[in-house]
Amino acid sequence: MRGKQLAETFRSPRISRRAALGASTLLVLGAAFPARAKENPMSTGRTSKTLVAFSSRSGNTRVIAGIIHRAQATDIFEIRAAVPYPEDYDATVEQARVERDNGVEPALAQTVENIDRYETIYLGFPIWGETAPPVIRSFLRSHDLKGKTLHPFITHGGYGLGSSLSVLASLAPGARIEPAFSMEADQEKRTLNKVNGWLAGVAPD
Ligand SMILES: Cc1cc2nc3c(=O)[nH]c(=O)nc-3n(C[C@H](O)[C@H](O)[C@H](O)COP(=O)(O)O)c2cc1C
Repeated sequence: MRGKQLAETFRSPRISRRAALGASTLLVLGAAFPARAKENPMSTGRTSKTLVAFSSRSGNTRVIAGIIHRAQATDIFEIRAAVPYPEDYDATVEQARVERDNGVEPALAQTVENIDRYETIYLGFPIWGETAPPVIRSFLRSHDLKGKTLHPFITHGGYGLGSSLSVLASLAPGARIEPAFSMEADQEKRTLNKVNGWLAGVAPD
């Protein structure tokens, strides 16, 4: 599925602004609980040579990042834009589309200061608009991963990895990119539509 049809898939139907804001705020707050990296990078206390670097909006990729972090006793770093993306789902989809089409690489909230100490990097992200999100391009552009082993882990809403692997290959020259772990994960859009459908039937007080 490509182009307009895919774009429509990642757009939710018209709903009240109040309902949309309420639902998306809950999702973002709820998703923030598991394994959010408070310090960047958050160390395990030992000198790990492995880093989990991830971006996640609704929490799916964050859960996987936390699993890897705990299983392998790695450091962990959350890749975030300096200017946060909107909480509103549709606004984020639209901003991501514009940034992708214009090759925008947004400034990062933080970079990994001592990237040289890591030999292995688990890099996680969701698919946005059939490719890697703009912050992942920013992350790759601002860190030299030459000579490092890169293990991508990617979540998507059912439409596959798109061009994300070729983005990694072109923006991480000299890194050894291992086969990606990927999985379909629940879409915020589906939750949003279901919750808003329910709310629409709930009589106001
Ligand atoms: C802005 C945006 C664009 C998306 N575009 C796609 C897409 O092109 N293909 C796809 O399969 N899923 C797409 N999704 C769904 C996410 O990739 C999927 O739900 C992912 O697991 C979300 O990960 P997260 O919870 O870590 O943010 C998109 C989601 C968002 C928010």
